[in-house]
Order: sequence, then structure tokens, then C-alpha cells
Amino acid sequence: MIELRDLSSEDEERLYEWRGEPEVARWMSDADVSGREAHRAWFEQLSTDPDLKGWMITRGGRPAGLLTLTGLTGHHRRAAWNWFVGDREARGRGVGRAAQVLGLDRAFGDLGLHKVWAEVMADNDAAVKILADVGFRREGYLRGHVLSGGKPRDVVQLGILDEEWRRLAPAARQRLVEAGLVAR
Ligand SMILES: CC(C)(COP(=O)(O)OP(=O)(O)OC[C@H]1O[C@@H](n2cnc3c(N)ncnc32)[C@H](O)[C@@H]1OP(=O)(O)O)[C@@H](O)C(=O)NCCC(=O)NCCS
Repeated sequence: MIELRDLSSEDEERLYEWRGEPEVARWMSDADVSGREAHRAWFEQLSTDPDLKGWMITRGGRPAGLLTLTGLTGHHRRAAWNWFVGDREARGRGVGRAAQVLGLDRAFGDLGLHKVWAEVMADNDAAVKILADVGFRREGYLRGHVLSGGKPRDVVQLGILDEEWRRLAPAARQRLVEAGLVAR
């Protein structure tokens, strides 16, 4: 089963390792600033700053990835979505798809957001595909928008609104339950 749980202090080291892995780092625009101290400060912020929320994505009870929402305290009730599956063995097994549904449920449920949006490197085909499949709509294309490894990269912007998720969520949850990925 795929679940989300709150972060604990033991997760800090694991997240540092994951964020430094080439398969994760190559898709993250903040990769260049993830030195040890910057990572510690970022992790601390995840637990203390009301503007941010992070969850560990678990698979069979074991840590598999991270999902964060940022911008929670803003006037517009929207937050930026970011997630990765850090455990190499867990990739391509539905963890990302399941985490999307669990995360959107929290975003539009408990957190009461109106919109969730994401910026994804334009050539991150897997991420763009599964975000679109769950209901994120493409809203923009920004050329040379971020520097990754010193190189300018294009970015796709995607977003989903609360009323859209309310319509899509029951079928999305049902698909995951049938696939044995989340509990009923
Ligand atoms: C993107 C990511 C979160 C997806 O999580 P995941 O658990 O691997 O994804 P899932 O197994 O749920 O689904 C992956 C889907 O993408 C598809 N896919 C994989 N690579 C692909 C590619 N290069 N092009 C198109 N589709 C691809 C898979 O076939 C699968 O689709 P299917 O369910 O129809 O078979 C994960 O791979 C990851 O963390 N990647 C590295 C970091 C990253 O890109 N984070 C997102 C930053 S915005």
C-alpha cells in the first residue's frame, strides 16, 4: 500500500541522499543549492514553516519518496506541488500516481486549497504525463526558465482546481484501490 505520513527527524538524512541522486537531482531546479547546511535548513523549514507542508510517501510502510506543498499561507489558497520517488526500486510501480491522489485529497480536503500547481521541466515526460493523467491541466510553457547544472531549461506549468479534483477524485481513488495501491 502507498501512504503519506508526516516527516520525522530521522527522515532528514535519507532525504539528503535522495535529493543528491542524479535521477532525482536532474529534474529539480533547486538541486544546485542542496548542500548539507542548505538541506538542513530546508528540512527544518518543512517542519516549522506554516507556508510549507511535506509528507513522506511510503510503500509497504517503507519510505519511498517525498511530496511537498509550498505557499500554503498565501491569500490565494493555492500551493505549489513538488514530489519525487527517491527509492530507486519503488519507481515505475505506481507510487507517483498514488501519491498524487493522496496528496490532492489532502490539499483540497484538510488544507482547504483552491488550486494546486506545478512547474515541471519540459522534458520530464513521466512527470508531465502522470500529472496530466490525474487531472492537472497545462497552463503555460516557460522557455529557459530555470538553471539546472548551470544550463537553462524549459518548464511546463500545470494546475488543478478544487472543483476539478472533486469531479475526478472518486474514479481516481477507485482505480488505485482496484490496483491494490491504496486502502479503500
Ligand atoms: C516522476 C515520478 C515522481 C513518478 O513516480 P513513479 O512512482 O516512478 O511513477 P508511476 O509508477 O506512478 O507512473 C509512472 C508512469 O510514467 C510512465 N513513464 C515512465 N517514464 C516515462 C517516460 N520517459 N515518458 C513517458 N512516460 C514515462 C510509466 O510508464 C508510468 O505510466 P503507466 O502507469 O501508464 O505505466 C518519479 O519517477 C520520480 O521521482 N522521478 C524523478 C524525480 C522527478 O522527476 N520528480 C518530479 C519533479 S516535478
